[in-house]
Amino acid sequence: MPKCNRSHLFCALLTLILVASATAQNPAAISFNTQTKVFRIDAANQTYAFGINDKNALQPVYWGQRLGATDPLAAPHTNDGVASFDSSPTTTPNEYAAWGGGLFVEPALKVSFPDGNRDLVLKYVSHSIRDNELTITMKDIERDLAVDLRYSVDPATGIVGRSAVIVNHTKSVLTIDQAAAATWNLPRGTDYSLRYLTGRWAGEWNLQKQAILPGSIVLESRRGSTGHQNNPWFAIERGDHGDEDSGEVWFGALAWSGSWRITIERDQLQQIRVTGGYNSFDFAYRLQPEQKLETPVFYGGYSHHGIGEASRMLHRFELASILPQAPKPKARPLIYNSWEATEFAVTEPGQEALAEKAASIGVERFVMDDGWFGQRKDDHAGLGDWYVNKEKFPNGLKPLIDKVHALGMDFGLWVEPEMVNPDSDLYRKHPDWVLNFTGRPRSEARNQLVLNLARKDVRDYVFSFLDDILSHNQVAFLKWDYNRNWSEPGWPAVSPEEQKAVYVTYTKNLYGILQELRAKHPGVEIESCSGGGGRVDLGILRYTDEVWPSDNTDPFDRLRIQDGFTYAYTPGVMMAWVTDSPHWLNNRSTSLSYRFLSSMQGSLGIGANLNKWVAEDFSTSKTLIAAYKDIRETVQHGSLYRLVSPRENSEVSVTESVSIDRHQAALFAFLHSSQMGYPFPRVFMKGLDPQQIYRITPISGVAAKDTPATASGTYWMSHGIDVELRGDLQAAAFKFEASAN
Ligand code: GLA
Repeated sequence: MPKCNRSHLFCALLTLILVASATAQNPAAISFNTQTKVFRIDAANQTYAFGINDKNALQPVYWGQRLGATDPLAAPHTNDGVASFDSSPTTTPNEYAAWGGGLFVEPALKVSFPDGNRDLVLKYVSHSIRDNELTITMKDIERDLAVDLRYSVDPATGIVGRSAVIVNHTKSVLTIDQAAAATWNLPRGTDYSLRYLTGRWAGEWNLQKQAILPGSIVLESRRGSTGHQNNPWFAIERGDHGDEDSGEVWFGALAWSGSWRITIERDQLQQIRVTGGYNSFDFAYRLQPEQKLETPVFYGGYSHHGIGEASRMLHRFELASILPQAPKPKARPLIYNSWEATEFAVTEPGQEALAEKAASIGVERFVMDDGWFGQRKDDHAGLGDWYVNKEKFPNGLKPLIDKVHALGMDFGLWVEPEMVNPDSDLYRKHPDWVLNFTGRPRSEARNQLVLNLARKDVRDYVFSFLDDILSHNQVAFLKWDYNRNWSEPGWPAVSPEEQKAVYVTYTKNLYGILQELRAKHPGVEIESCSGGGGRVDLGILRYTDEVWPSDNTDPFDRLRIQDGFTYAYTPGVMMAWVTDSPHWLNNRSTSLSYRFLSSMQGSLGIGANLNKWVAEDFSTSKTLIAAYKDIRETVQHGSLYRLVSPRENSEVSVTESVSIDRHQAALFAFLHSSQMGYPFPRVFMKGLDPQQIYRITPISGVAAKDTPATASGTYWMSHGIDVELRGDLQAAAFKFEASAN
């Protein structure tokens, strides 16, 4: 790239044009050099390369900025270490290391054979390249255990998907003790920092950042599902750039909704490895002869323009390649959800009254939450009994659904299919259907137990009652909840050696049910919810159209929750409701427009008790909902710029979304608390077309008096805009629309 001596903006533009034209000239390609035995995956702005080394093992060669097509990538060689303590398998980077031959770093695969042998050394056997997919077959040096390493590449972003298929070609049963989807190897170095996400119920999506020092950092869930506590996503930056737009960032996300683990290691030779897959804690998966285990996919990508671009790449990738409606997912409809208004006290007239009010402000989908089924009065009973409660809905759901349709909305329903209350007909009939160890206590959480979806009868039951609901009611949407983690994860119906397969089989059956339901009811959309954001990952997102990021709907807390969420996931799946003030969790009071603006940064919904609203609330909502519909495509499917972060006790925060064609942008500014009379910091926009003229229109709040009505993209990005905000918990939003002049 030529050295650029002009303004930052000019240089950024030049880079963009050069990169875009380089990408156009360089489509995605997977190649194998027969001389050097190096595989290259070139796509978008990334090259990923590894080769077959002198010992016939697969060794990483390069992962980073896209290289020139003729750039030499030498054949990799084994590193024999410098001391007897540095075994060669440990000091030689490995694409997918099996535990054997003296490996001390995190293995990708560990196996126990029935004769007691636990040594496994994988060598290259063959490979095949088909379009954007590469498969490499490896085999143990002595035993008939094969591993197919699969690589797929997304031409638009360069994101590579990696997984492994472990096949037992021996004559006896063997046990997989540990299996990862992939190990990502970064260039050796000492100045890396790791970003990851942590949380808890009502406090998800906290972005953490720490230096990668010698040793290991483990991100994991042992809970049977993804979990609120860690999310299977990481981003590693070289150096510490302190901004969103510069620096090299390697990132990845594991597509798995069961117990998982990602280990980030810096070893004694400063090598950085990221290994991710099934959590090996309490893990054992038996393979009968000719049986195989296919791991989840671990996606990885590289950004040359900081963490901001890394998350925009993931957003693009999720929308275009992961979501069930990919490559063109529909924008999320504007929903009303009854939970915070009525909790379990749902009734036909009560829901109808809410539906009328919701329709009057422009809601498009009415969702009835928990409480409509079985003997469900509170969270003590009813889960598992999926018949309509006759006291609450004497004539079934039809009258309510018809009413919702007559009001011009479609209808959605809350379900929690994987759970059962001991106080239910289902549990009384099938006490053996839950996860349990024979003779041991069954620990309840929220008065419920987990149905063992790994069992075929349970899987069939769950599918059939959901199929029934969808076949007999005009339900357009399911909010699929999951309100506890596992305890006593036993599966007494199978032999003790088979029981630990529950970690894999449960989740695969969950995916199977979702897939089958979607195939049979193609119009139905699904939300993944787990007491808020406890099951959000690229695995569940293949089958669900949206997620519920948190039960915490406090609009101020949501700024941070949403900020963290968008590092890994697109605002296009991030549901955000406007609820009541003061908020039930923090007792914080906020204006209705503040609550709207906070939620309008994602996929807007309403969860307030509309029975308490006054006329002014309805008219404010009507106006803001109409404004949201106008920018919805931009917010949900555009490019997100986190201009000022709400983290670290910042007094302000700002986000901006730009449509893909750069014709429209939406700007959201929040003042948490005025201090010492300082004016709101000037906002410098990003990602606009410098040449285009954009007209600014306030959605809510005002810009400084001298703000022009129209100005170029360059003006909004370089001169910036002053927003008039003073006081506490204030917010403003603006729309920018490109015009021909
Ligand atoms: C969970 C969900 C909530 C609500 C309740 C219903 O907590 O996250 O949104 O649906 O369950 O019981």
